[in-house]
Amino acid sequence: MKLILVLAVALQVFISNTECYNYKEVVQKSLLFYEAQRSGKLPADQRVKWRKDSALNDKGVHGEDLTGGYYDAGDFVKFGFQMSFTATILAWGLIDHKKGYEEADSLEEGRKALKWALDYILKAHVSENVLYAQVGSCTTDHNNWGRPEDMTEARPAFMINTTHPGSDMAAETAAALAAGYMVFKDVNATYANTLLTHAKQLYSFAYKYRGKYSDAFTDVEGCYNSSGYEDELVWGAAWLYRATEDKTYLTYVDKEYTPIQYYIGFSWDQKAGGADVLLAKITGDSKYLTKMKNYCDQIMTTQQRTPKGLIFISQWGSLSSTAYVMQICLETAALGVNAATYRAEAKKQINYMLGDTGFSYLVGFGSKYPTHCHHRAASCPDAPATCGWAQFSTPDPNPHVLTGALVGGPGANDDYTDVRNDYVHNEVATYYNSGFQTVVAALIELGYSD
Ligand SMILES: *[C@@H]1O[C@H](CO)[C@@H](O)[C@H](O)[C@H]1NC(C)=O
Ligand SMILES: *[C@@H]1O[C@H](CO)[C@@H](O)[C@H](O)[C@H]1NC(C)=O
Ligand SMILES: *[C@@H]1O[C@H](CO)[C@@H](O)[C@H](O)[C@H]1NC(C)=O
Repeated sequence: MKLILVLAVALQVFISNTECYNYKEVVQKSLLFYEAQRSGKLPADQRVKWRKDSALNDKGVHGEDLTGGYYDAGDFVKFGFQMSFTATILAWGLIDHKKGYEEADSLEEGRKALKWALDYILKAHVSENVLYAQVGSCTTDHNNWGRPEDMTEARPAFMINTTHPGSDMAAETAAALAAGYMVFKDVNATYANTLLTHAKQLYSFAYKYRGKYSDAFTDVEGCYNSSGYEDELVWGAAWLYRATEDKTYLTYVDKEYTPIQYYIGFSWDQKAGGADVLLAKITGDSKYLTKMKNYCDQIMTTQQRTPKGLIFISQWGSLSSTAYVMQICLETAALGVNAATYRAEAKKQINYMLGDTGFSYLVGFGSKYPTHCHHRAASCPDAPATCGWAQFSTPDPNPHVLTGALVGGPGANDDYTDVRNDYVHNEVATYYNSGFQTVVAALIELGYSD
């Protein structure tokens, strides 16, 4: 009996050693990436020292202070919808995989990364039915290359309000604040309650004044056109129910659920799968769990794969799309559905990203990783050296290592070239990292780290 146990343990160690990555280091590095994306006045404990204060004049149309928050990707726009989604996912991980963060010695830093977004969101929600949705222009921001610290272009602020509503954006932001409340309620009740008050107001605004945020102000259309808001109304209500246990929010779920298109992944634009697994968890209703089982089974058995095994969902940001799907399937596994299969697949997909093909897609992790990611700040040498389109075009590596950033990732044939101008495969984004980081925290919690 004892011998069998010893053999089993030895075998397990052998198997896990065939693909061994330090997941704790991954979480720690991913959190550094969030620091590199910070806008506004940087705090004294900022660890990414090559970034300095920037965009200190960001303000609303009536002069409201809109400094802070995160730059979205390799550019300098603060896209509120994507920032809120990033915050919701970071909070989800901190709630459901707190132990994983603790084991990675990253609970404090994880909370800081979330709070950086939430503090900005509180500023942007200037009154009950007015939310600033974006600072910086999708069209003009992309005409420049250089450091955020040196920006001189106009930084227009765009809002949603009762005449120009954005139910998708407002409900996602409500979700972020409600999930944030759950993270902070035992840390700082005053702060948490403020988050919850804003969450409730924003959900009412989203529910009562219907529309898509990209119809409210067209600047964002060319960057992040929204496909609809019904899924965010369900998702936001699910989070508010989880935070408050107020059954009214479940009636909103029931009212809004029917028209939603399911089985289309989980992303800043598509909340269906995330809402299903969250509802399965908090209501215990098997109809949601059955949907998730069918969804995850289909993803793992019939979804397109690259020759080297990456589940391939989208050309643009392929790795992040896969990570998000692994996240909701790990949540499904935690509810007792096909747990061993889903967990093994999640680990395999993450290991593809971290080096199983001989290359790590996480900047600064492993021995071979992207050195030319599409990121303006990292491509610039330290001031006072000038920085412009010459730095975009140079074949030289980025002077700064953008540690912890997950790049877009390969195409359908594992094809990938580490060049700066390929923003489809080699850009980074705050919402690329959030799902990925959450999956890695979950794997740590499962005991999969070395
Ligand atoms: C409402 O939002 C729209 C779209 O952002 C904006 O054009 C309009 O000025 C806003 N209305 C008010 C009263 O601020
Ligand atoms: C708790 O949050 C409030 C509101 O954000 C803040 O003023 C206060 O300093 C925080 N308290 C602690 C102990 O961090
Ligand atoms: C954005 O979506 C709307 C439909 O809601 C469509 O009319 C518009 O052409 C789209 N814009 C872009 C730039 O794709």
